[in-house]
Parts: sequence; C-alpha cells; structure tokens
Amino acid sequence: DSDLSEQIKAVTKDSHVRAENTELMLAYQRGNVSLTQYKLLLCSLYEIYQALEEALDNNSNHPSVAPIYFPLELARLESVERDLEHFYGQDWREKIVVPAATKIYAHRLRQIGKDNPEYLVAHAYTRYLGDLSGGQVLGRITQKSLGLKGGEGLSFFSFPGVSSPNLFKQLYRSRMNSIELEEEERKGMLEEAVRAFELNIQVFDDLQKMVSVTERESELMHTTTRNRCTRHSSTHSKLADGEKLTVRSLQ
Ligand code: HEM
Repeated sequence: DSDLSEQIKAVTKDSHVRAENTELMLAYQRGNVSLTQYKLLLCSLYEIYQALEEALDNNSNHPSVAPIYFPLELARLESVERDLEHFYGQDWREKIVVPAATKIYAHRLRQIGKDNPEYLVAHAYTRYLGDLSGGQVLGRITQKSLGLKGGEGLSFFSFPGVSSPNLFKQLYRSRMNSIELEEEERKGMLEEAVRAFELNIQVFDDLQKMVSVTERESELMHTTTRNRCTRHSSTHSKLADGEKLTVRSLQ
C-alpha cells in the first residue's frame, strides 16, 4: 500500500518488536513494574514531551505538521508534570534525573524542529499512537503493580480529549495520509520513524541501567542503615539519595 500510515507501520514493525522486548517493557508485560522504574520513566517522558511538543507548537502551521497537530487531544507535557509532582513533590523540577539517551532523543527532536519539521510527523506518530495503543494497557499495569488509587500519578496514560482511542487512531492515520510529500521526503520520514523507535529503545535500555543502580544503592543504604541502627531517615529520603547517587555515577 502506498499510504503513509501503512508504510510507516510496516517499516517500524521490527523496531516495535524490539521495543516490546526491552527489559523495561518486559517488566511491564510481566506486570511487575517498580516505583523506581515508573518514576524514572516519567522523568524521561517529561524531557521527551517537552521537546516534542515545543517543536510541534513552533511548527503548527507547517503543511506537514498542521494535519496531525492535535494539542487538545494529545498533549502530554502537563499530565507528565502532574504525575511528577505527585511522586516527587512541589520541587520535582530539581529532582528529576534522566540518562544520556534521553538527552540525545530530546536534542534530535529540537534539531528536526528547526531543520526538518516534516519529520516531526514520524516522531509524533511513534509516541502518540503508541500511547494510544499499548500505552493504555501499560497504564492499567502501572496502577495495579504500584497500587495507585483513583488515577493518582497516572495522568500520563489518560486522554480525556479522546473518547475512542481506536477511532482517533483512524482519524490520525487519515490525516497522515493527507500529507503531501516528495519522494525524498517520504523516504526521509520513514527513516526518521525507525530512528524514533531506536531512540526510544535507547532510552529504555539506559533507564533500566539507571534503575538497577538505584535499586542496588537503595538496598545497600537500607542494609547500612539497619546495621547502624539509625532510624531517623525515612525510606523515601533514602530512595531520593540513591537517585542522586545514580546521576553522578552515570555522568
Ligand atoms: C501499536 C502493544 C510498546 C509504538 C500497538 C498496538 C499494540 C501495541 C497492541 C496496536 C496494534 C494495532 O493496532 O494493530 C505494545 C506493547 C508494548 C508496546 C504491549 C510494550 C509493552 C511500544 C513502544 C512504542 C510503541 C515502546 C514506541 C515508543 C506503537 C505505535 C503503534 C503501536 C506507533 C501504532 C501502530 C500503527 O497502527 O501504525 N502497540 N506496544 N509501542 N505501538 Fe506499541
């Protein structure tokens, strides 16, 4: 088929399988995501959506971007911010930590926002249609494994402006198919979609390394604290300390 929506799905099929098989996504599919994993994921999603949505906003009138520009229905930045505030508190901005791969992804988004705005379609597709597909299952798993009540900390997964994800995906695909592209642009766009998946995979892999270090360190700190019989530091502050250590050791 020559529709962009079909081509982009076909060309990223293998990448989707690889993304599903990253440690982080496997943990999700096993139904045992940890609080550390989810908090670190939110931190990276914040960086990614900040860059993506700024680039989309800046190019909302671009002929390739305008048809797939749905800020009311899709924008995630504010919901990620709410979730971060829930888990990290009011001063979450000073506490968020992201791995190098996330910086690289955000940098790519800003760069194409300036140099090749038409490629934003590939990135918006990869994130938003993913969020509207498997992402819905991930939300329920997060809620169950972390025992979160009443949607607290789960705004990221909820799309109040989209009543039927499936119908919305159909509309999104038809909008994608209405974009007029030169052959070279189409080729570049498909390559960019594969790259977008690759960038996500790198983020998940980097995040998982960070999670391992954080959980090991917080375990170590528990042991040390127990051995010293100190009782004044709460589990929460130990975890936060562990997260700070992680940043330093990864930088
Ligand atoms: C679509 C599952 C991870 C991007 C889908 C669909 C499912 C699914 C069931 C619907 C397929 C269809 O409508 O034909 C999952 C599961 C995941 C996962 C279980 C991990 C546990 C990801 C990741 C990304 C992603 C990490 C990208 C960052 C997409 C996209 C689509 C999609 C872009 C739309 C495909 C299209 O209709 O063109 N996913 N997914 N998914 N997923 Fe995932």
